[in-house]
Amino acid sequence: MKVLLTGATGYIGSAVTEHLVAAGHQVVALTRGAEPQPGRAWHAQLVGDTADPASLAGAVTPDIEAVIYLAPPSGDADVDTAVIEALATPLRGTGRPLVYTSGVWVLGATGEAQEVGEQTPTNPIDIVGYRPRIEQRVLAEAGEGVRAVVVRPGIVYGRGGGIPAILVDRARKQGAPEYYGEKDVRWPTVHVDDLADLFVTAVERAEAGTVWHGVGESAVPVRDLARAAGHAAGVPADPHAVPVEQAAEVFGPLFADALALDQSVSGAAARTALGWQPSRPGVVAELESGSYRQAG
Ligand SMILES: NC(=O)c1ccc[n+]([C@@H]2O[C@H](COP(=O)([O-])OP(=O)(O)OC[C@H]3O[C@@H](n4cnc5c(N)ncnc54)[C@H](OP(=O)(O)O)[C@@H]3O)[C@@H](O)[C@H]2O)c1
Repeated sequence: MKVLLTGATGYIGSAVTEHLVAAGHQVVALTRGAEPQPGRAWHAQLVGDTADPASLAGAVTPDIEAVIYLAPPSGDADVDTAVIEALATPLRGTGRPLVYTSGVWVLGATGEAQEVGEQTPTNPIDIVGYRPRIEQRVLAEAGEGVRAVVVRPGIVYGRGGGIPAILVDRARKQGAPEYYGEKDVRWPTVHVDDLADLFVTAVERAEAGTVWHGVGESAVPVRDLARAAGHAAGVPADPHAVPVEQAAEVFGPLFADALALDQSVSGAAARTALGWQPSRPGVVAELESGSYRQAG
């Protein structure tokens, strides 16, 4: 398939590009800048800005067989709605896929519930406040003949990047590993290469109107993750808790709340129904002996 990919230069988008190409697809990257990016396995590069929906008019040409949306939200629900409109309209009646990237933070704190699934109602934390509405806007395109699909990744790790890299960096700078909020906080996680496999699978065969959790491990204790981040940073010590209010001074209140969010989220549906097989090391092993050590 010829796949239009927004966010193609990003952490997840870089991996998705590689996995799409390895599966025999062509990637048309939609980038904000026009400068060529040597070394990317893109078939073509288009300029467009998801903060400016008008710049996307004409991006989905008749030869585009799928769209994957991997850019961040703009912060303005009306703009994001217009972006979905611009990307989906040319796909109407074609049955071609539009895969939108959301995230597990739309579920909010999962509380006592274990391994929350895709049917659980959303309860977003503030940093992703209006994202469920964008999910619904995307899924509504299923009624217009678009194979509309939503993927909600957990906390993405691997290739030395993502939020775990922030913990490694902080541990190095502070001389000790830290985590945020309560000691029992758990994060659903996914390796970036496993997640990229899920995007390939979703674009190839997820049905219209479906939502999938991209989660490899449903609830990793963040204390274990922080301890492993300390190892990666060369500061093997017991991690200490940083109160959310204090974390807010470093990360801003919205991101601090997200880092302190306790979740247990299931990625079983994608395994069962789509045959997705996450196979990379878990986040603790990856931090202790994988890509993050090299980053240090
Ligand atoms: N990382 C995670 O743990 C995680 C978890 C759940 C969900 N997600 C979601 O996954 C998506 C991608 O995350 P990521 O971690 O890969 O982010 P990232 O590394 O920051 O990459 C963002 C990508 O979006 C592009 N972009 C930013 N603003 C844009 C705009 N106005 N117009 C067009 N392109 C724009 C960037 O391009 P430039 O090269 O121009 O900057 C870059 O390619 C986001 O929606 C994020 O919320 C991420």
